[in-house]
Amino acid sequence: MMQWRAPLIYLKDISDANCVKRFICSDMRPSIRASASSPSCGSFRQPNSTHIPCRYRKRNIATRNMSSQSSRTWLERQHKDPYVQKAQELGLPSRAYFKLQEINETHYSAAVSNKTKRKKPTVINRRLIQPNMLILDLGAAPGGWSLYASTQLEPSRGGAIVAVDLLSLNLDVTSKIHENLRGRFEFIQGDFTQNNIRLETKHAFSHLAKEAQISDGTERTTVRRKADLIISDMAANFTGDSKTDAIRTINLCEQALSFAAGEDCFDSSYPPKGSQGMLMKEGSFLCKYFSCGKENERDLMDATKRVFRSVHLFKPKASRKESSEMYLLGFDKLH
Ligand SMILES: C[S@@+](CC[C@H](N)C(=O)[O-])C[C@H]1O[C@@H](n2cnc3c(N)ncnc32)[C@H](O)[C@@H]1O
Repeated sequence: MMQWRAPLIYLKDISDANCVKRFICSDMRPSIRASASSPSCGSFRQPNSTHIPCRYRKRNIATRNMSSQSSRTWLERQHKDPYVQKAQELGLPSRAYFKLQEINETHYSAAVSNKTKRKKPTVINRRLIQPNMLILDLGAAPGGWSLYASTQLEPSRGGAIVAVDLLSLNLDVTSKIHENLRGRFEFIQGDFTQNNIRLETKHAFSHLAKEAQISDGTERTTVRRKADLIISDMAANFTGDSKTDAIRTINLCEQALSFAAGEDCFDSSYPPKGSQGMLMKEGSFLCKYFSCGKENERDLMDATKRVFRSVHLFKPKASRKESSEMYLLGFDKLH
């Protein structure tokens, strides 16, 4: 069962037609979507849009009853969950904080150690997040991952975060992250599947890179414009059909990977001649997806194997046992 519930999203109006349009756009593979995109599928950041919970849209009575039953079950489970309780005690925005912490402290080291085991059987105690990294956090709201990552970075060494989400971050979380990163944090509100939001993301990279150059007083002529680590916790809006939701979330992972490595990572002819995508060579990529059968996961897995020297799948302890959620980690980008 899915653990994450439908967030509030900005809709131009509450007609189902608009929701359908959005799903059609975000469901397509990046390559197809690019050629099919139309202005009617624009970003949701409508200045005058009404903030309407998706779950209030018109539905038939049977679906509504089913959904209120599952909402109750979800609320009961939230209430008992030790990670939710711990997050509340510590004033953290979400339990997801602990997942990234666990991945950073355990799974990355395990993955790197496995990879080198044959050559040298020593355990390498390395972390996914290094202090000087420029990190892109996709699906960042309510802010657990960005907040955790901000505690691992050193802004004086160039550490910075660009975060993107359809939803906003609350002021308290934003100011904690800003404080940890001494301002080297940029939040972009919008739909990451849209070109304008990807463009804004690239501008934010350049801006943070320039700022780092000015503050360390170096006279390098090349400005770093790419991320060292891209993490995606984006999850498609909850529709009530877990398979549909899982396939949509896989598609969001593909969107994140195509931004990291270029759209042609989905072609068997990859690698390209030049360096593609917005992730540095030797950079890492982490995304959450929901198991939905090898057939639906194949394109994402094959592309990730083309892009990275090493690819690992795992489920952190902080992820609920009954959830089909899985994590895909690719490290050491080849090109
Ligand atoms: C599970 S939550 C992320 C939790 C977050 N990582 C944390 O640590 O608190 C999933 C998020 O993905 C966002 N999302 C879904 N589709 C998106 C899209 N196309 N562009 C940007 N964000 C998206 C949702 O708005 C939601 O906030």
